[in-house]
Amino acid sequence: MEQVEEIIEKFVKDAQEPKVTELFNTQAKGKRVRAKLALIIANKEKASRKLAAIIETIHFASLLHDDVIDEADTRRGKASVNAIEGSKVAVMVGDIFYSKAFYELVSLGEEVAQIVSDAVFKLSRGEMQDVYLGNDFNQNPQLYEEMIYLKTASLIEATCEAAAVLAGKERVKYALYGKNLGLAFQIIDDVLDITQPSEVLGKPAFHDFKEGKTTLPYIYLFEALDSEKKEYLQSLFKKDLSLKEKEWIKSNMQSTGALEKTLQKAHKLANEASALVATEDDLLKIIDKVINRNF
Ligand code: IPE
Ligand code: IPE
Ligand code: MG
Ligand code: MG
Ligand code: MG
Repeated sequence: MEQVEEIIEKFVKDAQEPKVTELFNTQAKGKRVRAKLALIIANKEKASRKLAAIIETIHFASLLHDDVIDEADTRRGKASVNAIEGSKVAVMVGDIFYSKAFYELVSLGEEVAQIVSDAVFKLSRGEMQDVYLGNDFNQNPQLYEEMIYLKTASLIEATCEAAAVLAGKERVKYALYGKNLGLAFQIIDDVLDITQPSEVLGKPAFHDFKEGKTTLPYIYLFEALDSEKKEYLQSLFKKDLSLKEKEWIKSNMQSTGALEKTLQKAHKLANEASALVATEDDLLKIIDKVINRNF
């Protein structure tokens, strides 16, 4: 992984913009889940380290843009780039990292380049769907699942599929592992937004509903409430919530079983991922970490 960090730092240096380096250095590194997947599946070959660095660079660019879109002022326990330097700069730095990643991607061959660039195409469409779904209180779990596939699972799927191509492994199997893992990953992220404080998350907590995001726990909660409570929940949509209102949401998510049902969905996806790699301990461990994390 140290060599992956060096490659990422080289990408930053290649930009030859002191401001880019300065802002990059204000940010923490993150969990590196995607890089770990690339290294494990592609057997730590040289090309797999480059793939890992490219994917983390793309992921970082997506976070820079995501924090502008979501108006988030913290990321990985630090002030976000948009909070430090404004949204315009965050968008530009994101573009610099996206384009550098695409340039480097070409050297990994056409097949890998197509897999990864198609995922970024999907991710961008997913972010757009996320915003537009937030115009109204989305009650449709199908639309939610399609959107999280695009915005989050597609890049994790592509990481695993591209790594499999590099290693000459069955690409369909690893792609499906990555897709299921990625869907579970975003569902857990959406649960943590509700259950963890911002100090643990390293990013704003209880922020999704305020931003118009009726994530899966909200969809299941809405389904379970009587009409009077449904109306109350809808009245809180996109509002700055008081402590009492947050507590109401949390306790109703507990008592109706909405939270439990959401976790069961994540576990089901995780089990589907596990079944595909039943003999591969490192990949099973990643699933466990994704499910049992608190940030
Ligand atoms: C955050 O991804 C964005 C989502 C897809 C939920 P991570 O939780 O992997 O972020 P870092 O890289 O560890 O900070
Ligand atoms: C982000 O989803 C997905 C991408 C960055 C494409 P979120 O908006 O839920 O991610 P966080 O919670 O800000 O990390
Ligand atoms: Mg966000
Ligand atoms: Mg977002
Ligand atoms: Mg989130």
